[in-house]
Formats: sequence, C-alpha cells, structure tokens
Amino acid sequence: MPPGPAAPRAASPPAIGLRDAPDVPAALLLSVLAALCLAVPAAAAPLVAEKVAGPETCVECHLDQIQVWKRTVHNRTFRELPRQPETEAMLLKLGLSKIKGEKQCQDCHFTGQIIDEQYQTVSGISCESCHGAAADWYKTHGDYGPGRTAATEPPEHRAARLAQADAQGMLGPRTLHALGKTCYDCHIVPDEKIVNAGGHPAASPGFSLLTWSQGEVRHSIPREGDKVNPEAPLPRRRLLFVLGAILEVEYCLRAVAAATERGEFALTLARRAEAARQLLEKIQAAAPTPAIAEIVAVAKSARLRLNNRAELLAAADQLARLGRAFADGTDGEKLAGLDPLLPGPDQYKGKVHDPAVP
Ligand code: HEC
Ligand code: HEC
Ligand code: HEC
Ligand code: HEC
Repeated sequence: MPPGPAAPRAASPPAIGLRDAPDVPAALLLSVLAALCLAVPAAAAPLVAEKVAGPETCVECHLDQIQVWKRTVHNRTFRELPRQPETEAMLLKLGLSKIKGEKQCQDCHFTGQIIDEQYQTVSGISCESCHGAAADWYKTHGDYGPGRTAATEPPEHRAARLAQADAQGMLGPRTLHALGKTCYDCHIVPDEKIVNAGGHPAASPGFSLLTWSQGEVRHSIPREGDKVNPEAPLPRRRLLFVLGAILEVEYCLRAVAAATERGEFALTLARRAEAARQLLEKIQAAAPTPAIAEIVAVAKSARLRLNNRAELLAAADQLARLGRAFADGTDGEKLAGLDPLLPGPDQYKGKVHDPAVP
C-alpha cells in the first residue's frame, strides 16, 4: 500500500500548546474530541520510558506532593529492594541477575527513563507510575495562561487545559477508573512463573483502592503550602470502595485466565476473585443500583477454574467497560447505604503524612 498522508492517531492529541492557543473554544473543542477518541479503555500498559519526565520535573510546582511521596514505600523501595535478601533469592530461583536490569521486574518496581539513548531506572514507583507518563502534558496541564493566577483564570481555560492533559494521558481525578487501574496493574501480579517458580507474592495481601490510597499514599494538599492533607470526602470514599472491588474482580479473573497449573498463583487469585465478588454482592445489597446489579451478574458469570480462558477474559473485558462507566457516571452522594461497610482510618495502609509536622 502506498504511504498516504499520516492519519491522525486517536492517542495523539492536537498539537496545541495552551500558551499559544488563540483562545479557548477551539482548544477546548479539539481537546474534548481527542478525549472522546480515547473512550475505549486501553489494556494495562507499562509506562513508555520515552515519555517519562521523571519525578524531578514535578518538584518545581508540587513540592508538597513530593514531600509526601518521599516518605512512602513507593519511593524508598528504589534503594531498599535491590539490597533485600528476598530479592536475591527470587532472582536466583528465576535465573535472573540484577532486578533493575530485568524487564520482567522493572515495570512494577521502578520508573524508567531514556537518558543518553539508554533505558535507566531513575526512581521507584513515582508520580508518573500512577498519573501517567508526563512528557507531553507536564508543562501545560497547570498553566493558567499569561499573567493569570488560579483566581483570574477563566473556567473555560481551566477546563480546556485539563481536558487536553487528560487526552495526552494524564490520569487523575477526572479519570478515576484509569488511575485506579494503575494500582491493580502492579498490586495483582499477572505472571504465574515468577509466583510459582520464583516465590513472588501473587498479590499484595489486603490491597484495596480505598484503604491503600488513604494512608501513606494520600497527598490531597489543596494548594501548595497548605498544611492539611485530608482524607477523600465521603462520597469519593464510597466510589473508591466500590471501584476497588470491581477492579479486583477484573484483575483476578484475568490472572486466573492466564493460569496453567494448580499452584499458589491460581489458588490465591481465584480466592481473591471469589472474595471480591462476594463483596460486590454485599455492596449491591447495601446500596442497590442497576449498574452494580449488572456488574455482579457479570462478575459471577465466569467459573473460576483452569482452562477457562475465553469465559474469564470475556467477563473481565465486560467488567472493564462497566467499571469505567460506573466510575464516570456515579455520584457517590447516592451511595450512603454503603457507609456501614466502609473501612475506617484504622485500616488505612501506612502512616498518613501531616504537612503541619515537618
Ligand atoms: C509548571 C508547574 C507544574 C509542573 C512542572 C507540574 N505540575 Fe502538576 N499541576 C500544576 C498546577 C498549577 C496544577 C493545578 C491545576 C488546577 O487545579 O487547575 C496541577 C495539577 C496536577 C494534577 C491534578 C490535575 C487535575 O486533574 O486536577 C496532577 C495529577 C498533576 N498536576 C501531576 C503532575 C505531575 C505528575 C508532574 C510531574 C511529571 C507535574 N504535575 C508537574 C502545575 C505543575
Ligand atoms: C505485576 C507487578 C510486579 C512484577 C512484574 C514484579 N513484582 Fe515484585 N512485587 C510487586 C508488588 C505489588 C509487591 C509487594 C507485595 C506486597 O504488598 O506484599 C512486590 C514485592 C516484591 C518483593 C518483596 C517480597 C517480599 O516477600 O517481601 C520482591 C523481592 C520482589 N517483588 C521482587 C521482584 C522481582 C525479582 C521481579 C521480577 C522477576 C518482580 N518482583 C516482578 C509487584 C511486581
Ligand atoms: C500510588 C499512586 C500515586 C502516586 C505515586 C502519586 N499519586 Fe498523585 N494521586 C493519586 C491518587 C489516587 C489521587 C487522588 C485521586 C482522586 O481521588 O481524585 C492523586 C491526586 C493527586 C493530585 C490532585 C490532588 C487534589 O487533591 O486534587 C495531584 C496534584 C497529584 N496527585 C500529584 C502527584 C505528584 C506530583 C506525585 C509525585 C510526587 C504523585 N501525585 C504521586 C495517586 C498517586
Ligand atoms: C508501578 C507499580 C505500582 C503502582 C502503579 C502502584 N503500586 Fe503500590 N506498590 C508497588 C510495589 C512494587 C510495592 C512494594 C514495594 C516494596 O515493598 O519494596 C508497593 C507498595 C505500596 C504500598 C505500601 C505497602 C506496604 O507494605 O506498606 C501502598 C500503601 C501502595 N503500594 C498503594 C498503592 C496505591 C493505592 C496505588 C494506586 C493509586 C499504587 N500503590 C500503585 C507497586 C505499585
């Protein structure tokens, strides 16, 4: 086929820098169109190292968030994991050498960047591991416009720059399903071999989007310099709770679909899938909605057994769609029935950082 003119790719947004944008409406329209093109959720994909800007890039404007992150396991693991005896033992069993150099380990344990044309691990699990590779959007997503401040920026300009950043791959408050997915991409381990042969955990015991995002990971400091870091508001916590259960079932079904033997991997993840389905049923009983009714039916439709790949994957794919629609379309205000089920602060994972205490 003769090469035609390069077709615009759905994933590449219009090349407008907001700084030079003539004015808002055109930019807004283009950004919204680009965002619509991304309507189908992509499969779990590791960060593209070429597009990673690195946590140093965020320091300039997000010093408070960096201070929180510095204290987390996600950051400390960069130095600590390679020295742990468990790491050595695991690598030995798998016939691998250095954890930072192994493709099979890098994507979950580190952030990689291209420096001098070479892939290098530059940090542990960093801002971009959760918020998406930022090279395309980090300069513009927070740009109020020439001479403007947060207070004087027109609301349409704000909407336009954030829509543009979302279209360029920023995962954040408006794309909660995609943001939540990043956790499960790493915390449910989809690799049977490293689990059964290497002794790697099949998943983080007790992981849940709500409880693990509200502890040491929490960095909801409203404006730079504010000395508070409040937990997510109640309606948001309800949403995080339900979304976590949906993602847990989806990811565990995918893992069971990939399992080839009765071993630690298949057993642990089938058990977790079953527990998460039961949690979804409890959620539906406590705060019934048509959306969750459908999700429960799909979650229960797949039999948790080996050699059942097609059925398990079909259910997981449907859950991906329904989960996203749920996250985008649900108002946590209406889910008050869930409150007795919500885990409280005593179950949040790790110590919450208080910016008032240096
Ligand atoms: C030049 C300054 C600047 C840099 C550099 C910067 N940010 Fe921001 N960022 C901002 C501002 C300002 C906001 C607040 C925007 C708003 O709420 O309107 C923001 C908001 C955000 C948000 C929330 C967006 C939303 O949807 O509400 C995320 C997530 C974020 N930044 C991540 C990052 C990451 C990750 C990096 C580094 C790769 C980074 N930022 C680098 C200025 C910056
Ligand atoms: C899909 C993501 C993923 C991949 C791939 C992955 N890990 Fe992990 N790893 C994790 C998570 C998540 C944990 C934390 C588990 C927990 O919460 O207990 C972990 C924990 C570990 C630990 C600590 C275990 C312990 O018992 O304390 C070691 C060591 C480790 N990984 C090594 C490796 C090595 C070596 C590889 C490559 C062969 C690798 N990991 C690949 C996600 C991953
Ligand atoms: C472990 C995943 C993870 C990491 C690492 C992470 N974030 Fe976040 N970030 C989140 C989650 C989850 C939220 C809350 C989203 C929500 O509820 O809307 C969030 C929210 C934010 C917000 C919006 C806060 C608000 O209250 O509106 C900003 C800004 C932000 N992150 C910047 C950063 C920066 C900068 C870094 C690196 C220093 C970082 N994040 C590291 C997951 C992460
Ligand atoms: C790129 C992979 C990756 C992503 C994305 C990720 N994590 Fe992690 N997370 C890990 C690994 C690996 C560890 C364990 C590191 C270690 O023990 O050395 C970990 C550890 C943690 C811990 C500390 C657990 C402990 O034992 O104290 C918390 C809390 C956590 N993650 C929450 C989250 C949440 C919430 C999200 C999503 C908003 C998330 N993580 C996204 C890979 C990831």
